[in-house]
Order: sequence, then C-alpha cells, then structure tokens
Amino acid sequence: MKKQTADNLLENILNSSLGVSIIATDLRHRITFWNRGAENIFGFTPSEIIGSKVDALYSDTPETREKVLLLRNSVAAGKTLTVEIQQKRRNGSPVWVSLTVAPRTGRNGKLAGALGIGEDITEKRAAQEKYSALEQQLMQSQKMDVLGRLAGSIAHDFNNYLAAIMGYSGIIRKNLSPSDMNSRDLEEIISVTKSAACLAGQLLAFSRKQPAVLQPLNVNEILAAFEKILINVLGTGIELVFDLGKNLPEVNFDKNQLLQVIVNLAMNARDAGAGRLTIKTSLPADKQGNNEFVEITVADNGEGMGDEVKKHLFEPFFTTKEPGKGTGLGLSVVYGIIKQHNGFITVDSRPGAGTIFKITLPCGRPQGAL
Ligand SMILES: Nc1ncnc2c1ncn2[C@@H]1O[C@H](COP(=O)(O)OP(=O)(O)OP(=O)(O)O)[C@@H](O)[C@H]1O
Ligand SMILES: [Mg+2]
Repeated sequence: MKKQTADNLLENILNSSLGVSIIATDLRHRITFWNRGAENIFGFTPSEIIGSKVDALYSDTPETREKVLLLRNSVAAGKTLTVEIQQKRRNGSPVWVSLTVAPRTGRNGKLAGALGIGEDITEKRAAQEKYSALEQQLMQSQKMDVLGRLAGSIAHDFNNYLAAIMGYSGIIRKNLSPSDMNSRDLEEIISVTKSAACLAGQLLAFSRKQPAVLQPLNVNEILAAFEKILINVLGTGIELVFDLGKNLPEVNFDKNQLLQVIVNLAMNARDAGAGRLTIKTSLPADKQGNNEFVEITVADNGEGMGDEVKKHLFEPFFTTKEPGKGTGLGLSVVYGIIKQHNGFITVDSRPGAGTIFKITLPCGRPQGAL
C-alpha cells in the first residue's frame, strides 16, 4: 500500500469512531493529535486545542489529580492503564470518561508521549448511581424489617417472662409484712422489672407490635395540647416554635404514640444542643390539595449529624451518646410507630447545620390491622 493511501486510511479510522476520543500527547503532555471523537466529547476543534496541555481537560478534583498521576506513572513505566476519570468539556461541564492511556514511542523506539483512548460514560454512570441508590434504599428497608422482626420476637417472649416475674412478685408482696427485711429487696425487683418492661415496650413499638388506638386527630390541636409536655422536656433555654398550617385534614393516629414520636424528637434536639425547636404542619408541597397526607416537620438548630450517623439513625440500639445517656431506642420507636401508621419519616441534616425530620402521615384510614 502506498504511504499516502495508508495515511488516509489511518486518518479515516481515527476520525470515524465518533464516540471514541483518541488523543496523542508529547512528553510535556501537550496535545499533538485530536480526533473527531475527542471534538464530539469535549467540544474543542483540533485548531483550538492542539498544542495545549492535556491538563486543561481534567477536572480540578483531588480524585482526578490522583488518577492523572497514576496514568502518567504508568506511561513512564511503559504500561497501559484504564481508569474512569472525571474530565471537563469546553463549556466547563463535567464528563466521565473511561480512559485508556498507553505509552507512545517515537521512530527511535524511545518514549515520545502517550496515546489516550476515551469513551464518554457520563450517562452510564448516572444510571448506575441511581440504581445503586435504589438498591441501597431497598437493602436499608429490608434490614429494618429483619431487625423489627427480631426485636419483636425477643421483646414478645421477654415480656411474657417479665409478666410472670411481676405476677409472682405481687403474690409475695401480698404475703409479706412491710416490716419484713426482704420487703425492700422485693420492691427493688419490682422496680427493675418495670424498667425492663419499658425497654421491651420500646422494642415492640419499633417492631410495630404495640397495640394502637386509632382515632381521627387534628394534628394542630394535638400538637398544641402537647406544648406543656414539650416545654418540660426541652427545659429552659430552648425556644419552642409552632408553625401550624391551615385547613389540614385529620389523620388517623394513636394519640399517645404521636406524643411518643414528638417527645423523642424533642429530646434528641435538646441533646443535640439546639436553641430552637420548630414544629411545622402543612400539606406536602408535592401533594398540595389532594388532602391525602399531612406533613409534620420537626426542625432543630442543634449540632446536626454526618452521613455515618444518618445511615444507622433508625436502628434499635444505635446511639452516639455516652453509656448510660441514651439507649439508642428513641428513633427506632419513632420509626416503628410511623411505619405502623403507614407513614414515612425522612431526615435532612448536616454537621453544624441542624436537623429536620419530616413525617408524612396518610389521612385515609390506615390499611391492615394495627
Ligand atoms: N436532632 C438530632 N440532632 C443530632 N443528632 C441526632 C438527632 N436525633 C438523633 N440524633 C443522633 O441519632 C442517634 C440515635 O438517636 P435515638 O433517639 O435513636 O437514640 P438516643 O437519643 O441516642 O438514645 P435514646 O433516645 O434511646 O435515649 C443519637 O445518638 C444521635 O447521635
Ligand atoms: Mg433519642
């Protein structure tokens, strides 16, 4: 084949693969070749970019810088390497590229630079991320289900044993004169058994096995009725603000359990060093007007929390508090109660930025026996 024909053929091949960028650089990382695919992905024409440093195509993130270094080291060692790397287009927007970089040798057989072949995988990555977020959500809810069942069955048997202890203690108490030297010990047994029953009750709430007495509730009236208790829980120095929406439909809820939810959230806000607790009621913004849901948001300006805490927040026995300060059951009880009423709870929080719990409650009669 004549050289001219061979060159034409090569150029055709390089430029025909429109989805693939082929970029050559010299030893100083300046671009010496730029195909049509590179133009499509990055938006620069060859005349705009040839001669520039290839660094202009990389995003300025520590992760990207680290990968560029890896690529350059591998080229220097005569090796080919493939990475997924964030680059940037002419307009500055990010583009994820699966990039294979190989050493390029000159006529003398010595290293002359690098040859990079890249594929735009931005959409593929976005789809993968969305999928793995959904998968995570599913795993999380399955984990909570399993934990709920486990906690529920333990708490159930535990409660039966406690009932027996309480029963026999009651019989002994009846037969014992108050002056009996064992009387104080017996009272101690009864008191510890009551604490244990309270713990078991919380586990039952998480596993949604607590009996609920449903009644139509006007959330605004109920929350207003909780005000005194909340002020007591919060103590001095924490401002309690109500921001109650108008014309909200009633929800079917167990009043005492709603109190349990709000008190637990308030105690956590207090423990997070909040100076203000805002309780807001409204129709959900995305479901305005259909009266199927009511939203209660409980927001504090406390210390907030990071991703690791958020991940485990609703699990029973997860606590960041010192031993003896928290059992880690508060939010698992909240979660169990909301789920039992077919509602949802989400959290929005960052360290130093406070915390917002959003509870969405359905207004129709909850399905399934409670
Ligand atoms: N409003 C909040 N601000 C910051 N962190 C919070 C908040 N609410 C909960 N947390 C974090 O979530 C953890 C779990 O909360 P949860 O109420 O389940 O247990 P606890 O408060 O530690 O113990 P318990 O409620 O049983 O006394 C807390 O230890 C805390 O780290
Ligand atoms: Mg708590």
